[in-house]
Amino acid sequence: MKITVIGTGYVGLVSGACLAEMGNDVLCLDLDASKIARLKDGQIPIFEPDLDGVVARNVAARRLHFTTDVEEAVRFGTIQFIAVGTPPDEDGSADLQYVLAAARNIGRLMTDYKVIVDKSTVPVGTADKVHAAIADELAKRDVQLPYSVVSNPEFLKEGAAVEDFMKPDRIVIGADDDRAIHLMRALYAPFQRNRDKLLVMDVRSAELTKYAANAMLATRISFMNELALLAEKLGADIELVRQGIGSDPRIGYSFLYAGCGYGGSCFPKDVKALIRTGNDNGHALQVLTAVEAANDTQKSVLEKKLVQRFGEDLRGHHFALWGLAFKPDTDDMREAPSLVLIEALLARGATICAYDPVAMTEAKRVLGERPSLGYASTPDNALEGADALVIVTEWKEFRSPDFSRIKKQLRHPVVVDGRNIYQPALVAGFDLEYYSIGRKQ
Ligand code: UGA
Repeated sequence: MKITVIGTGYVGLVSGACLAEMGNDVLCLDLDASKIARLKDGQIPIFEPDLDGVVARNVAARRLHFTTDVEEAVRFGTIQFIAVGTPPDEDGSADLQYVLAAARNIGRLMTDYKVIVDKSTVPVGTADKVHAAIADELAKRDVQLPYSVVSNPEFLKEGAAVEDFMKPDRIVIGADDDRAIHLMRALYAPFQRNRDKLLVMDVRSAELTKYAANAMLATRISFMNELALLAEKLGADIELVRQGIGSDPRIGYSFLYAGCGYGGSCFPKDVKALIRTGNDNGHALQVLTAVEAANDTQKSVLEKKLVQRFGEDLRGHHFALWGLAFKPDTDDMREAPSLVLIEALLARGATICAYDPVAMTEAKRVLGERPSLGYASTPDNALEGADALVIVTEWKEFRSPDFSRIKKQLRHPVVVDGRNIYQPALVAGFDLEYYSIGRKQ
């Protein structure tokens, strides 16, 4: 099949590469000429396991192409995926200007039947706006051409994006006409393997499904974070509570890990946008409003633990930070809890030395040069002369450190773990003071 993917961000690039991997002819469009030049050269703009291999293989096989030429891109694919960014507006709603600009380009330049697929996470009702934008452009040209607008939200996780795309739990297709449904079924047939994963529904239900999934997962996390803080007060252990409730299949184990707050480009943005959609429709979402507030509180939990241990005034204190990315296996710093912690510690006069296996370049870009914020080339180097080690992201390489070395290098024997990656008894065995989230200190 001939497919155009508009936007080479996370979702667009992974979708394009994986659809090419299944034998389709894919053309990816981006208006950023330097990004397209780098992609043509085999350079991947994001850190994502396995993506470079899939891109290289399919470029070499001449199934995956890149362009900045809008007209070429619109002519190319019968299926046109819109996978451009939807950054949050100041009021929390998703900014649709890039999605609608893509739709207008399609309406302006199409010459035959197209299926336009909304792949970006977009508010309920966006497909109707895309439909109207294309109709408007066709009317300006005074031509009548058939087209369908489909919602096909993406459920991939950063750090496991290729795997998630190639082996999806489900494929949600929101479509209102048979011609489009038929094409989408054919497109995703190779991804079905041992069972039918396609859920065909109306467009609005598909759009809402995406927000419902992320909002539910964010709710689980905020719920556990809130209980973790209570567990600390009660002398209970949130990790045991997680196992206790997760064993109920109605609840399940995943996405119940307490920590220092959820981040990333999706949960915070989508929770905000859904709250906004509720308000716009005269239906305040009370649970989700609390989920967001709880997450804001949780992002300060590490600062609070350090203040409790070292005092309000942190001038003259130096801290080692392990982990900057919002989660492991990505260099993405968007809404990362590390950003909140760093700003808070610097504001209290502390100095910091941070280490992250892949996100330091991105962190430097986001945080800028700060005299009180340094970066170490190894986890060990970050520890030198620090008053405490703070773990913010649970990278695998932090999971089995040499605790006696940590003890030796730190000025105070303090480890504050925002991701509960160590066994409290084990760390205590090394004479380290260990503070984690929702467990006995
Ligand atoms: C999330 C969803 O998991 C994907 O299904 C969805 O497709 C994607 O958003 C999207 O909308 O595009 P992602 O943002 O890549 O994926 O990251 P997650 O693995 O979901 O983690 C999000 C945040 O929750 C991270 O900060 C993580 O540390 C935190 N988290 C996750 C917890 O604090 N506890 C948990 O138990 C799980």
